Amino acid sequence: MWLLQLLAVAVTVHAAYWMEEIAHQGRSSFNPDPNYRVFRNVKDYGAVGDGVTDDTGAINRAIQDGNRCGGDSPCVGSTVTPAVVYLPAGTYKISSSIIDYYYTQLIGDPTNMPVIKGTPDFSPGTLCLVEADRYTNAGYLQFGSTNVFFRQIRNIIFDTTDVQIGACGIHWPSSQATSIQNCVFKLSSRPNDVHVGIFMEEGSGGFLNDLVFYGGLYGVQFGNQQYTVRNLTFVGSRTAVKQLWNWGWTYKSLNIIGCDVGIDMANSNVGGVTLLDSTFTNVNRAIITDRNPANDTGQGSFVMENVRFENVPTVFGGPDGTVYLAGSGDGVGNWYVPQGPYAYFGSQPLVFPRPPVLVQGNRFYERSKPQYEDVPASKFLSARTFGAVGDGITDDTKALNTLFLMGALRYNEGVVVFLDAGYYKVSDTVNILSNIRIVGEGMSSVILGAGSKFSDINNPRAVLQIGSPGQLAYVEISDIFVSTQGGTAGAILIEYNVRTPASSPPSGLWDAHVRVGGFAGSQLQVAQCPKTPNVATVPNPDCIAAYMSFHITRTAGNLYVENSWIWVADHDIEDANNTQINVYAGRGLLVESASGGIWLVATSVEHHTLYQYQLVNTRDIWMGQIQTETPYYQPNPPAPAPFSAVNVALSDPDFASVCQGSDNTFTIPWTPTGSPACGMAWGLRVLNSHNVVIFGAGLYSFFNNYDTRCSTRTAGEQCQSRIFWADDNMGVVYNLDTIGSVNMVSRSSVDLARWAENFATFASTVAVLWL
Ligand SMILES: *[C@@H]1O[C@H](CO)[C@@H](O)[C@H](O)[C@H]1NC(C)=O
Ligand SMILES: *[C@@H]1O[C@H](CO)[C@@H](O)[C@H](O)[C@H]1NC(C)=O
Ligand SMILES: *[C@@H]1O[C@H](CO)[C@@H](O)[C@H](O)[C@H]1NC(C)=O
Repeated sequence: MWLLQLLAVAVTVHAAYWMEEIAHQGRSSFNPDPNYRVFRNVKDYGAVGDGVTDDTGAINRAIQDGNRCGGDSPCVGSTVTPAVVYLPAGTYKISSSIIDYYYTQLIGDPTNMPVIKGTPDFSPGTLCLVEADRYTNAGYLQFGSTNVFFRQIRNIIFDTTDVQIGACGIHWPSSQATSIQNCVFKLSSRPNDVHVGIFMEEGSGGFLNDLVFYGGLYGVQFGNQQYTVRNLTFVGSRTAVKQLWNWGWTYKSLNIIGCDVGIDMANSNVGGVTLLDSTFTNVNRAIITDRNPANDTGQGSFVMENVRFENVPTVFGGPDGTVYLAGSGDGVGNWYVPQGPYAYFGSQPLVFPRPPVLVQGNRFYERSKPQYEDVPASKFLSARTFGAVGDGITDDTKALNTLFLMGALRYNEGVVVFLDAGYYKVSDTVNILSNIRIVGEGMSSVILGAGSKFSDINNPRAVLQIGSPGQLAYVEISDIFVSTQGGTAGAILIEYNVRTPASSPPSGLWDAHVRVGGFAGSQLQVAQCPKTPNVATVPNPDCIAAYMSFHITRTAGNLYVENSWIWVADHDIEDANNTQINVYAGRGLLVESASGGIWLVATSVEHHTLYQYQLVNTRDIWMGQIQTETPYYQPNPPAPAPFSAVNVALSDPDFASVCQGSDNTFTIPWTPTGSPACGMAWGLRVLNSHNVVIFGAGLYSFFNNYDTRCSTRTAGEQCQSRIFWADDNMGVVYNLDTIGSVNMVSRSSVDLARWAENFATFASTVAVLWL
């Protein structure tokens, strides 16, 4: 007993965070410089962190090192210069902005969070303490906001309290596979100061979690197509959240305390806000809308479920002080605006009952990406130390299989498998056999399936197989990518079979991404897979690069997935003009889990040929905010090409029979007067599934054969006829928004909602659908 206690003390006295201490062997496999360093500790670049020294230059040098994409270079995107910029504990004074580069993670020590503090004479020149995407002298964002991928900020306190007049913490135009996690913002509330924690004006995101904001004129200003934010606390901000615009936005677990205004969504460019599991305490006006109650469009849709108000005089009101819903002391609210005529309730009561397996306490279950604060560096099992090469050339199949076996055998010792940054090329399936914890580095730890075993379109095979069918296990995986190289028409990138016992927390995948094509080393770039809109396209077999991206199989269950981007490239990231490409992948995310208990938090699936999300014979699924895009090349060729065989075992849609009707118009090229095409991928297809609860869904179809004219209101939103299929008794969808589809949701042989009656912003929006 005594001895154990002494040991515990000895361990906690000094052990720096593992990320600081571990051997730094991460590499960028496809960077021509063999000495390119992924990991950088700002102290190695001269940062002092003593609260006195000006560390601006040192931190920026740590970011810039290695001829990276950013700064004055014309680079608009690159996957070959990833970086982890690490800040040990300390207070780092800065007198002008930290300029973030493409593909950067800024990570502080979570056991003793570093502070980045603006000096009183902070000269922005740009806008914020951290400029994730700065404005160039020409007045444009350096990186197109919808192409700002692969970046994170974690474990940092941003302090603007010394800065006079105007200041902000992070400027964050952002898109998929980005996040800000576990940060604190200390903002001035002096009467003449305009301080903002996060300023985000554009993008296609995205995910934020575990943030705390103190003070400020605005805690945050948010404008983006769609986003999921979870677990944000605002204390004493004038307005906690200023919603500048959106198509759809999901707020889960907000705590708004002592603010004048909670969420100000009074802007006609706001499509929909979904708010759940939140509290407002001592707030004068919780939600402000400018939606005219007589408005019969979908603009300004608002859904609120399980929100608690304490000392809130106005729950829902207009900017002029009109009160639509007054507070009444302490209450829990559920409310939907608009309430008709296209909100579809059937004969059900207003609130869809929460499936008990998805709930913990009084909230839907949520859990943040583990950072292993309490695991010493000695417990991390490095892939590279273990003999995996990770150079994008060597076959690492055996090395990874042995590594994952070792990680499973030593799981009970508290071992975490560390996949150092690098491309681990594999010629056959890599298996995870039992309980395991795996973490990647720099958003650049990639398992790259290549070769003949993955190339047979009639014999699909998993690249990463997590558990064998029926296996009971517990897994935690974060910050990894699974990809393919060249023609791999038989590749299933992730096959997830694990069933985690209900007695255990769910298994978790955080920032586990699928990326098919469009990156250096993929052999699926402009040179190999150019787009061909001007001819009838015959798909190049070497550009068919996945059979399915992610399969959650029948035996799988009890799984939490957060911030996962399942992407088939629509453009080549390395190309100076982000030129579009034709890369084909059959199926997106297929969920067949019979037992269910699946959370898909902030996930998006894009550009697969048959469907993005498909749920079959499953139940108890939480999804929110999901986002999809139809392939840009369709209908040239029309779906299902190049996947001609219908796989009945996987419940593939049968386009040949579906498109027999009057919609059978594979119009090539698109003409303004033509009918919408039918040979287009489903955004979401739900078959024989129940208790599916969707808090925010954006299903988009912007193109017909690379032409965007079909996705405008004047053209009649007719890129495709249907985008969302739901069988009977599926569950509920809050704030569905669609673009470019004539019908927003279809069930049996009935189209339930059309875009025209529900137009909102650029998208059409329906607040509530009981399906
Ligand atoms: C929410 O965020 C706070 C502060 O970052 C953190 O301490 C807490 O554990 C988070 N809650 C959940 C449920 O993740
Ligand atoms: C409803 O809102 C839309 C979008 O802001 C606007 O264009 C339209 O004029 C409004 N209609 C009414 C009747 O208020
Ligand atoms: C990018 O586009 C510009 C302008 O159209 C063109 O001059 C340039 O050659 C293009 N660069 C590449 C790499 O395609």
